[in-house]
Amino acid sequence: MEIGLRGKRALVTGGDSGIGEAIVLALAAAGADVAINHVDTTGAAQQVVQQVQAAGARGIEVFADVSDAGEVERMFAALDAAWGGIDILINNAGIDGPHALAWEADPAAWQRVLQVNLFGAFHCARAALQRMVHARSGVVCNVTSVHELIPWAGYSAYTASKAGLSMLTKTLAQEAAPHGVRVVALAPGAIQTPINRAVWSDPHGLRDLLRKIPLRRMGTTDEIARMAVVLVSDAASYLTGATVFVDGGMTLYPSFQHGG
Ligand code: BGC
Repeated sequence: MEIGLRGKRALVTGGDSGIGEAIVLALAAAGADVAINHVDTTGAAQQVVQQVQAAGARGIEVFADVSDAGEVERMFAALDAAWGGIDILINNAGIDGPHALAWEADPAAWQRVLQVNLFGAFHCARAALQRMVHARSGVVCNVTSVHELIPWAGYSAYTASKAGLSMLTKTLAQEAAPHGVRVVALAPGAIQTPINRAVWSDPHGLRDLLRKIPLRRMGTTDEIARMAVVLVSDAASYLTGATVFVDGGMTLYPSFQHGG
């Protein structure tokens, strides 16, 4: 079976680092043209664009804070002008926010996590679906987390945002299916990226983390990216509304390997 995305136009939010960057490169390797959304101004997105072009695909960078509905509108207008539409949206942009028990949390910081992870995904999905439903074709893939399912003390905004994104996925899938558009979720486990550097760079933190993963190792961004390519391709043409967990078994309640 060959998975080809040639001629498809994709947008990856937060595509300039971590899982997003790996998804961008995997989509380009499969032949898709990729727009790299970012808020960072260090030039990282431009470097990813160059790698996309080196793979023989079209790449552009689009600056926008996805939590801002107006900026998202302008980003999609820029894509319309450049490529005349969109076939694949990967809602990947996300933050985990400061660690704080709920009763000590700063409400503004809590709200910011929801604005980026949930409102941001909604703004982009809304704009993408307006175009995809009209074209009667397209796929939206929301990057959630094992924490759409697993509670995580100190990160109530993050877990709430990811659980919300999971239900948003199912509801949008139900709405879009009659129009020939699929909406899926991809839930990574512990993938080694800048977002969790504090844990994997500390030997105690890493040992504790590995106990929570039946495959006994962290995942790579490439392992997430490969699944993203499958999910948005016709290999997954009958899949919609589902979350696919790519987590080395983290959601299998590993503490039940013994006893019970
Ligand atoms: C978080 C990571 C964490 C992983 C597993 C992800 O959603 O962003 O920081 O390592 O979940 O707990």
